[in-house]
Amino acid sequence: MHVPGNRYKNQPTSFNPNYELIEVLGKGGMGYVYKALDKKLNREVALKVLNTNSDADSVKRFYFEAQAMKELDHQNIVHVFDFGQEKKQLFIAMTYVKGESLASVLHHKKEMAFSDIELIAKQVARGLLYAHNKGVIHRDIKPSNIMITHDNRVYIMDFGISYIQEMEKERLTITGMTMGTPEYMSPEQCHGDEVGVASDVYSLGVILFEMSCGRLPFTGAKPIEIAIKHVQNTPPNPKDFRPDIPVELSNLILKCLRKNPKERYQNMEDLLDALDNVFKTNVFSKSPSRKMKILDSFSKSKESHPLLKQVICQKLSILALLLTPILIFLLLMLTLHYKPKSVLQPIKDLKLRASYETKNLEGDSPKGYPVQNLMDFDLSTAWVFETPINRKNPILSVELKNKTLITHFGMAIGYQKQKEDTFEDRFMIFNKPKSIILKTKEGVRQKLVFENIKGMQYPPIQAIETEELFIYLEDAYENQASKNFAVSEIRLLGLSLK
Ligand SMILES: Nc1ncnc2c1ncn2[C@@H]1O[C@H](COP(=O)(O)OP(=O)(O)O)[C@@H](O)[C@H]1O
Ligand SMILES: [Mg+2]
Repeated sequence: MHVPGNRYKNQPTSFNPNYELIEVLGKGGMGYVYKALDKKLNREVALKVLNTNSDADSVKRFYFEAQAMKELDHQNIVHVFDFGQEKKQLFIAMTYVKGESLASVLHHKKEMAFSDIELIAKQVARGLLYAHNKGVIHRDIKPSNIMITHDNRVYIMDFGISYIQEMEKERLTITGMTMGTPEYMSPEQCHGDEVGVASDVYSLGVILFEMSCGRLPFTGAKPIEIAIKHVQNTPPNPKDFRPDIPVELSNLILKCLRKNPKERYQNMEDLLDALDNVFKTNVFSKSPSRKMKILDSFSKSKESHPLLKQVICQKLSILALLLTPILIFLLLMLTLHYKPKSVLQPIKDLKLRASYETKNLEGDSPKGYPVQNLMDFDLSTAWVFETPINRKNPILSVELKNKTLITHFGMAIGYQKQKEDTFEDRFMIFNKPKSIILKTKEGVRQKLVFENIKGMQYPPIQAIETEELFIYLEDAYENQASKNFAVSEIRLLGLSLK
């Protein structure tokens, strides 16, 4: 089923006719972000899928905001190519940025070089200035919404969509997904007031604090504690955590963090001027690390003595010569066997159980029609079962070895190969499920509707994260009420979240 070199065509992972899902890039408060192939334009995009239960008004608002995002065209803003709705899921297709989020840079590096802070802060401020001039406030400036590429380009993502998150708060709490914490929220936002340009200024101030000091100005065990501190507490002095911080930068950060929006920089232009001044008057902006790549400095090594370097280099080149054939062999093996961890693939580490008796119906199936047939990837075998009397019981249960993210659920239904022959397809026709209900151990449920066709089909689903899944028969295509049902394959695609 997996043909090397032709991954996109052979992985049945379409989201809709226009997009094929390739891998999971990350998970946010409202769903998953996938790397996807835009089939029309044959390019890779990041596809953000928002699981919503939104009413018509909210969907209208989403379209309005997404249209505004689509119109933003700036070198420091991720471009929105397309947006829409697929069943209950709203989606946004945008530039796929190859790089690291500022969140992961901060996670690895803690406090950053001042020259890197300058590079990042100025680009974020320029992107925000452009958006503000178009009347768009970001509302959710935080390190995971800032991407940095290997050539030091900074992109801001997720303009103006934080309101959908607010709308969905209630539902998300029910499904157990985590809400974003208010670490970067302005006091007015924590209050639930209308936010303007100055709120984005505040959030960028929090990020500047974190990049400089390696910690946040306000922390707490619960979101509410952090929110109260944003509203009430005076921020600590950055110098207490970063003794070498220039006083001008420290003052700039504290001005961004003023409680009263009117006391902050009034727009991004003022903040950019202030950043210019800070970095002009300080020597670090001309330090050699200015030319370093932000992402490369992850693994910045110390300079060694030149003579020592020469000796080491000589020894290394001899070693390299000796090791080359082994390295080539290892590389070849690695390429052949390499499967990136997050690429969507068939999930095989599972136990299938049937609640109903399996039947041995025909003489041509000496082993009967056991439920294991569903996992043999052989469409000529089937699992045959009687019409369930009580549809309140699951017809099948799937026990997964690890917590797993299921992104696709496929089934082949209603047919069983009658006779092995090369030239003709002779099938017995059985009854088949028309709709099923998937329910996780945790109680999250969704309905899947199948078409009345032969072969594998993957109705769209919302990604499910679970260790155990129950499958209920809801509605059926019944040829004869007395007949049995047949399912010849079940395929789960996704990834193990070990
Ligand atoms: N356009 C993109 N290109 C590359 N990676 C992305 C893109 N958008 C989002 N991601 C990744 O997906 C993760 C989850 O994004 P998101 O759902 O917006 O949640 P959050 O912003 O709260 O982390 C991000 O942290 C980032 O690593
Ligand atoms: Mg985001």
